Amino acid sequence: MRDAAPTTIYLKDYTPFGFDVEKVELTFDLHPTKTRVKSRISFVPKPGAPSDMFLDGENLTLVSASIDGTPVHPEVSAEGLTCPVPDAPFLWEAEVEIDPENNTALEGLYMSNGMYCTQCEAQGFRKITYYPDRPDVMSVFNVEINGPHPVLLSNGNVISTSQGHAAWHDPWPKPAYLFALVAGDLVAHSDSFVTASGRNVDLNLYVRPGDEGKCAFGMRALKASMTWDEEVYGREYDLDLFNIVAVDDFNMGAMENKGLNVFNSSAVLASPETSTDENFLRIEAIIAHEYFHNWTGNRITCRDWFQLCLKEGLTVYRDSQFTSDMRSAPVKRITDVIDLRARQFPEDQGPLAHPVRPESFQEINNFYTATVYEKGAEVIGMLRCLVGAEAYGKALDLYFERHDGQACTIEDWLKVFEDTTGRDLGQFKRWYSQAGTPRLTVKDAWYNGTYILSFTQNLPASETTPDPQPQVIPIVTGLLRPSGEEVVPSQVLEMTQATQSFTFEGLKERPVPSVLRGFSTPVVLESELAAEHTAFLLAHDTDPFNRWEAGRSLARASLLKMITDDAAPDPAYLDGIHAVVGDATLDPAYRALMLNLPGQSDLVKSLCDMGETPDPQAIWDACRAMSHAQAERLQDMLPALFDAHQVTEPYEPNADQSGRRSLANAALRLVSLIDGPDRARAQFTSADNMTQQLSALGVLLRINEGADELEAFEQQWKHDRLVMDKWFGMQVIHADPNETAATAARLTEHPDFNWKNPNRFRAVMGSLAAHHAGFHFADGQSYGLLADWLIRLDPVNPQTTARMCSALQTWRRYDDARQQKIAAALDRILATPDLSRDTTEMLTRIRG
Ligand code: PHE
Ligand code: ZN
Repeated sequence: MRDAAPTTIYLKDYTPFGFDVEKVELTFDLHPTKTRVKSRISFVPKPGAPSDMFLDGENLTLVSASIDGTPVHPEVSAEGLTCPVPDAPFLWEAEVEIDPENNTALEGLYMSNGMYCTQCEAQGFRKITYYPDRPDVMSVFNVEINGPHPVLLSNGNVISTSQGHAAWHDPWPKPAYLFALVAGDLVAHSDSFVTASGRNVDLNLYVRPGDEGKCAFGMRALKASMTWDEEVYGREYDLDLFNIVAVDDFNMGAMENKGLNVFNSSAVLASPETSTDENFLRIEAIIAHEYFHNWTGNRITCRDWFQLCLKEGLTVYRDSQFTSDMRSAPVKRITDVIDLRARQFPEDQGPLAHPVRPESFQEINNFYTATVYEKGAEVIGMLRCLVGAEAYGKALDLYFERHDGQACTIEDWLKVFEDTTGRDLGQFKRWYSQAGTPRLTVKDAWYNGTYILSFTQNLPASETTPDPQPQVIPIVTGLLRPSGEEVVPSQVLEMTQATQSFTFEGLKERPVPSVLRGFSTPVVLESELAAEHTAFLLAHDTDPFNRWEAGRSLARASLLKMITDDAAPDPAYLDGIHAVVGDATLDPAYRALMLNLPGQSDLVKSLCDMGETPDPQAIWDACRAMSHAQAERLQDMLPALFDAHQVTEPYEPNADQSGRRSLANAALRLVSLIDGPDRARAQFTSADNMTQQLSALGVLLRINEGADELEAFEQQWKHDRLVMDKWFGMQVIHADPNETAATAARLTEHPDFNWKNPNRFRAVMGSLAAHHAGFHFADGQSYGLLADWLIRLDPVNPQTTARMCSALQTWRRYDDARQQKIAAALDRILATPDLSRDTTEMLTRIRG
């Protein structure tokens, strides 16, 4: 049902809605295919309000409408309705019919395994009833639900419940995107929390019968989040009830609906037997993220969807602070940077590049991106770095005080920093308006006891940023003595010019610089410093991030030489990681990260920048060879590392245990390249938790030894959807490049490949796209397979289809033969009749 010409919406065209909404009352009579929704909405015209009111509405059947009790007959289109209205306050009443069972797009009111569920962000409420569906329209909601289900939930507090009926009241004015309704045969895992000021809050985690055993961890994470937000941001919860619901069919991770968070079951359900340490970590972070939205998102929301980063960047930043506090700050920072480079950098450096605050869109669902979320969080980290922790705290206090209950903009956000610090943030704002990853070049000089660091910044021009201007770049820098101690501790060098130098006086000897500590700015750093500094920093840097980064730089440089010149792995790199990994005073999780190699698509970008044509198979081979070289160089210590980091206490997903497991499993992976499958087999058989079982399986698959275990795993877990998602994904991830497409294709024929379930679809197709050498294997089979499935999924679920298209965003980096094959795939999808607006927008931007 694509419009002939898709319309583009611009930030500059923003105008407020002409009416205030004083109160909303909704009544739902639930039925799988004929749900009736009655709405009673009190509108108050603002001065100058139009005489015709437009309400958004999609896929609704209008049964009746009236104004102040008199029937009206609005003009109805595919996007909504228009109706003449009085110029004084009036009551709008309407009844519509909707069809949740056939709502496969999972937006609006839909069904998942017999349960009713809603998803309204960004523009799903208009699929429930006619409404001004925009975040700057905030109102108090009363909701009545009639349906034969034991559990009937909505936002806020319960007013009454009886068999087949529930009434809810949410006292906090909210935009419609935070509305939620859930109905089903669910069971609750319950607990309670007392806030700092003494309010008792009932907490419930609602799940399908059978999943009760997977709730305890999520509940613990929720309580930890509530405590943390009180202690660190002074933010208390504001209702007597906080509900979380787990749902199997969900497009994203989770949703922060007021008082009723809805979670993809993969983002909340966990048990030691079925979830890995990584799953636990992710669940803890998502629970925190959604909970933190209660203040940054719900109490203070966005004026319009261009301001999405106002709530998402800030909330991601807050959840990363939380994880750093709960676990290891350096490990969290390193994994965040790995993720940023893997997901945000390609977006920022390709055809989908857009500013953290975009200025136009066709389909807002396409802007829930790594740029808005993760770069949006980086921008906040930079701001905090520039003004300092104390000033940041003051600015946030003012933000909550000044804007509580409002729908805000990035201008409002920056203003609280300007007002508390007296700084002019005009130039800083470019981080919100310019797309692209700046390149930062650094060189140094030394004479007569003066040390000079000189930087040049350069932001490549792009379609959305044709004339880039210098940005404010906080460069956290420390200086080390040649003997390794720190001579100048970390300080913030504030770069504002295109080229700028910083001078250090009074040094007795030429120092070794450690620049961009903690990755204080999301840039690509190009160093013209002495090459031997890198190995020195790997051995000595007092900043854990930069020490890790030094290892990564050496690995990258060595891999690039292996690819382009057939060089052998760099012994200085191998010696360096040997020393760090063998250093028992360091955190095991950190040592495990030292063994990680740069992403293969990262290497593609480096090769392109060098003017080389990347060969995915050659990159794959080089990474394999490097792993073998690591295994050989570390051979003397691997068995002991493996043994010494076994966890013998009962499983706990905490930082200490999971760190030990990650180092033991990294050792297992390497040692198995030399010694073969025995240790991994033994671990697979004896494992009493999913972390150990799955990592053993991965090791075996990687050395083409896991066929029996794969079979045993399926038999053991075929009743568990979330574990089976892993089973599907593992086979693709660990396939050889020449067999990846065939493996994925075979899995799509498996009876349990429920492709309409986003988690299962992503388990296969997302893993295919994530397998760099397999996805880009020369025969082009993977491109064709992905295209086939995107074409099939689009009419069913446009959002998930569109998100998956980003797998093709880097296509211009490859050789002509591959580009032709990818272009053919893109064109084939684009030629599909009635392609969704979501997918059309993504593919047109990618195709360029
Ligand atoms: N707002 C959600 C979050 O970041 C993400 C989301 C967006 C979920 C759109 C569903 C739909 O927490
Ligand atoms: Zn969010």
